[in-house]
Amino acid sequence: MRVLGIETSCDETAAAWLVDGAVVRNVISSQVALHAQWGGIVPEAAARAHVEAILPVLSEAMGEDGPPDGIAVTNRPGLVGALSVGVSAAKALATLWRVPLVGVHHIEGHILSPFAAGEPQPPFPHLCLVVSGGHTELVRVDAPGQYRILAETVDDAAGEAFDKGARLLGLGYPGGRALQELARDGDAKRYALPRALPGDGAKFSFSGLKTAMRLLVDREGETLNRADAAASLQAAIVDALVRKALRALDEEGLKAMTLVGGVAANESLRETLRAACNRVGAEFFTPPFDRCTDNAAMIAIAGSFRLARGMADDLSLDVMPNADLPAY
Ligand code: KG4
Ligand code: ZN
Repeated sequence: MRVLGIETSCDETAAAWLVDGAVVRNVISSQVALHAQWGGIVPEAAARAHVEAILPVLSEAMGEDGPPDGIAVTNRPGLVGALSVGVSAAKALATLWRVPLVGVHHIEGHILSPFAAGEPQPPFPHLCLVVSGGHTELVRVDAPGQYRILAETVDDAAGEAFDKGARLLGLGYPGGRALQELARDGDAKRYALPRALPGDGAKFSFSGLKTAMRLLVDREGETLNRADAAASLQAAIVDALVRKALRALDEEGLKAMTLVGGVAANESLRETLRAACNRVGAEFFTPPFDRCTDNAAMIAIAGSFRLARGMADDLSLDVMPNADLPAY
């Protein structure tokens, strides 16, 4: 089965070509440089940039190949103007080629991103830590289509915590990757920052950390060691994520963990969580970097599970700014 995946929910225009579950092409055109001038994503500009990029990205993803056997497109959640570009393209192509179309929930795409054929497959059930610019969730995954959210953030997402910290250190937007690089030579024990661990286990919270970071930057002024501050912030975020994840793994009696989403590209988080899983005898999986940040390969993978069962959406498929994870 050949599946064309399309993703335009935020600031990456992406298309991917999947053959029998294996990722053949994963094309991503990023708008990061465009939005950097405003210090954040401007929805109207994002939609226009998707319109410009979608056809070249689609044709690169398809290469010399003919029509696919199905199309998977992100239709929720996200910026409605941005989503509409991908969904309209997908509807047009599905009509032209007379192939089935499935709308995919963006976070389900992240959750299933480790499931490319030819790579080690996480077992079911497992625990998934979703960490992106908009989401921080611990999800119990019993099967494709069977998800239970065990914990989510009450304020900022982990990616926002990285981005806001990066901005305070003058690193531009989005700053997660730059903060990681700055932290490389820093001393993570230099500055004490809070680990917000709300008691009931079902919540993450990063807004206190952001405030503490601002106070630190103000207090130290010119004497601030930026590398040490970056390392201290990264350690505080990673520590909170890993501790909650390990607690949930234990409480649910699960033996496998996946780490997905843009912040899963963070090397410190990957290695700390991998080591923690090793210590408790749990298997650990995380996709390659180009399937952590937003991409269409994960959308094609998630869509394939439904296409393989003969499920499809019709042309009334709508875009939605907010949506719960699907159940099927
Ligand atoms: O999944 P994603 O591409 O988009 C959303 O769905 O939000 O995640 C983007 C987020 C941004 O906040 C970015 O700063 C963060 O992922 N990020 C990182 C790294 N690479 C990307 N954060 C920390 N370390 C990184 N290496
Ligand atoms: Zn995402």
